[in-house]
Amino acid sequence: MRADEFLSLVRKRRSVRAYRPDPVEKKKILRCLEAARLAPSACNAQPWTFIVVDESHMKNALADLTNDSWLPLNRFARQAPVHVVVVVEKPNWTSSLGAVVKKRDFPWIDLGIAAEHFCLQATAEGLGTCMLGWFNEKGARTLLGIPQKSRVGLIITLGYAADPADQPKQRKTMEKIVRWNSYAGESFVKSEAVTGDGGRS
Ligand SMILES: Cc1cc2nc3c(=O)[nH]c(=O)nc-3n(C[C@H](O)[C@H](O)[C@H](O)COP(=O)(O)O)c2cc1C
Repeated sequence: MRADEFLSLVRKRRSVRAYRPDPVEKKKILRCLEAARLAPSACNAQPWTFIVVDESHMKNALADLTNDSWLPLNRFARQAPVHVVVVVEKPNWTSSLGAVVKKRDFPWIDLGIAAEHFCLQATAEGLGTCMLGWFNEKGARTLLGIPQKSRVGLIITLGYAADPADQPKQRKTMEKIVRWNSYAGESFVKSEAVTGDGGRS
């Protein structure tokens, strides 16, 4: 793979909030899961379980847990034919110890990396995803039989985008987010030098 091909894939991934009802091929789901399985994690703890929910009754019940009556944020979730629930497991003892000593929540960092691996592979498969962090955790736990010792980290909606066209990204510029050598250091880099369009892509 050429370096610019990976960057193109990253640019192509976006949060898809309108889906076609078409089912998703199992082999594609499995490749997305394999990409997630290969993600790095602190002390290689791999503190995750992925629950694929494609039975429509269960999936719709789960989708309903991503909305609150006072804030129906994720109404689109019902459209997606598949949801993948990423469960955060208790990590191995080295990661747990490191987390205490260094005051860092490594499993949640690990979860984010694995989720993005999943979503990038989905993009490569021509599929759309949206990570959902807004949901009723207790409800999801009960619905899927997730034990108390584990946390429901994210729900990823998966399916074919209703509108597969690429969309421009709303992102801070390179100048705003990059510093060289110290927090107060120069930014130097201009987004345009990397993207050719001032960082809008
Ligand atoms: C941890 C996390 C939680 C998110 N939760 C939601 C959510 O509940 N509902 C939603 O529509 N989008 C959610 N998103 C998607 C973000 O809104 C989206 O990634 C961001 O606006 C950038 O847009 P893009 O993904 O299209 O590039 C979440 C993203 C992340 C990483």
